Amino acid sequence: MLKVTDLRVTFRRSVKGQFWSAGKSLRAVDGVNLEVAAGETVGLVGESGCGKSTLGRAVLQLVRPSGGRVEFEGVDLCTLSEAQLRPYRRRMQMVFQDPFSSLNPRLTVGQAVAEPMRVHGLAQPHEIPARVAELFAMVGLSPNTANRFPHEFSGGQRQRVGIARALAAQPQLLVCDEPVSSLDVSIQAQIVNLLEDLRARLGLAYLFVSHDLAVVRHLSDRIAVMYLGRIVEVAGKQDLYERPLHPYTQLLLDAIPGTDRAYEKTRAPQILQGEIPSPLNPPGGCTFHPRCPQATARCRQEAPVPQPLAGGRWIACHLHG
Ligand SMILES: Nc1ncnc2c1ncn2[C@@H]1O[C@H](COP(=O)(O)OP(=O)(O)O)[C@@H](O)[C@H]1O
Ligand SMILES: [Mg+2]
Repeated sequence: MLKVTDLRVTFRRSVKGQFWSAGKSLRAVDGVNLEVAAGETVGLVGESGCGKSTLGRAVLQLVRPSGGRVEFEGVDLCTLSEAQLRPYRRRMQMVFQDPFSSLNPRLTVGQAVAEPMRVHGLAQPHEIPARVAELFAMVGLSPNTANRFPHEFSGGQRQRVGIARALAAQPQLLVCDEPVSSLDVSIQAQIVNLLEDLRARLGLAYLFVSHDLAVVRHLSDRIAVMYLGRIVEVAGKQDLYERPLHPYTQLLLDAIPGTDRAYEKTRAPQILQGEIPSPLNPPGGCTFHPRCPQATARCRQEAPVPQPLAGGRWIACHLHG
């Protein structure tokens, strides 16, 4: 359904106090390939700043890519005008980390959920109240709360409103950008379960973005691991968690508390050292080499190209393939 090919997003940015880098380009997404099948959930993980949100926004054309293709059912969205994009904008919806910032404080939550139906002409005016009540029930909110305003809701309830609003457009794909990262842990599980139920009921596909491998583990069929604007490993959930191949994936998994891997590693700890480098000045060769415990001379010089492996896996690492 969704096929992303060699996608690039570049921001022009001047750095404070550094005149010579004014206008230097920052490659937030740097040649990404990724597919999502109908009804599939693909997890996208990586540290903060690696380009996950930018990739999600570029898929929806909320930021226009500087290169590559985003094909939705065979149509390259990057070549479409804003007017031509309208029907696709309905079919792909985004669920944000902080639904509060995406909800208009002056609209009741019922009005917020009704808006996409009106904008896209999906219901007659007289049908809208019943449809809003149906969506509220679907996301586990009492339809009686539709007349309230966003500030009257807790974070978890607001995220339910955000999900109902996304569903109001009758999408096929939801891009969920850290949808539970700002919620209490107990609430996180409820929202993850809700998203899972909705996927089964409505046959939705998800691109599920999170910096937290433990969260995407629950939902995902396949997982893509991102580092500095690139996908370094893609594998089915079981393969990725049981046999991670990329050293970056291994270090991310080691860092999840309470897992077998983390336990085994406590005696020989090999933690993820340092910070993710700035995409303004990415390291040469494999961009992960300065933090990689297994880096060789080749890794410092030559950028690895993604290689297919058995079982539909992909990896971009000189140690494999
Ligand atoms: N609108 C923007 N203008 C300039 N730089 C941006 C913009 N949005 C994101 N970036 C930069 O792009 C990189 C990737 O950001 P982002 O996609 O938000 O990462 P993530 O979601 O993985 O934390 C970061 O270095 C960030 O500072
Ligand atoms: Mg983000």
